[in-house]
Amino acid sequence: MRTFRAHPVIVFRDQHLSKERQYEFTLTFGEIEGLHVNRLVDAVKYTPVHTVSNIGSDGKPSAPTRERGNYYWHSDKSYHDVPSLLTMLHGVEIPSRGGETQFANTAMAYAALDEATKQRISGLRAVHSWERSRIQARGLLATEEQKRERPPVDHPIARTHPDTGAKVLYLGNHASHVLGWPEEEGRALLRWLEAFATQPAFVYSHRWRPGDLVLWDNRCTIHRALPHEDMDKERRVLHRTVVKGTVPY
Ligand code: SIN
Repeated sequence: MRTFRAHPVIVFRDQHLSKERQYEFTLTFGEIEGLHVNRLVDAVKYTPVHTVSNIGSDGKPSAPTRERGNYYWHSDKSYHDVPSLLTMLHGVEIPSRGGETQFANTAMAYAALDEATKQRISGLRAVHSWERSRIQARGLLATEEQKRERPPVDHPIARTHPDTGAKVLYLGNHASHVLGWPEEEGRALLRWLEAFATQPAFVYSHRWRPGDLVLWDNRCTIHRALPHEDMDKERRVLHRTVVKGTVPY
């Protein structure tokens, strides 16, 4: 845990873990997240070790259908009242070119903001909504059941990291608008902050190898997958587990 506090993204090479071993290792960091609201649509058997892939229902690779939201900057499950602390992704099948995961350090980004912007965002809250990111990524509205399951929540735009005490930007694709502001004005501010936070100086791009196990802190990073070449020919399969965090403040 000490290493994780100092390094928000950690990479272990050459880990060939079964889903069960990954589950057990994840448990050492805390409570594992439950059912994703998306699973309500797919009626697949729930497993806390979720497969992220570009494999369609016909078993063939394709441009991703269900996981499209992963290709936008986001912090996992920021649309929950109690969002994720940590995500662990294990590379199983890796394409030969592309398909990196990028991480932006939002503590570094916050620290680099000018004082006027820090003052401007102090006390502001963003509304995070699963439906919003679903519309953006896939042009799909949520069902009434999904909306009941995952109503919008709001979190501070500048949150305090509970372990380090650092102020960090808490943003991403699920952040829809600024609470109490006209929607477009709030979206423009969020877009600007996201562009600032994802400058190359704050970003690490992870080039996957089979067997990589990557852990990241969702409280002070946002991440996204990059498309790979020949998505309709090459398979990209990773196993994911997520640990529940605490209410942002
Ligand atoms: C994720 O967004 O949790 C997965 C990222 C990836 O597919 O690289």
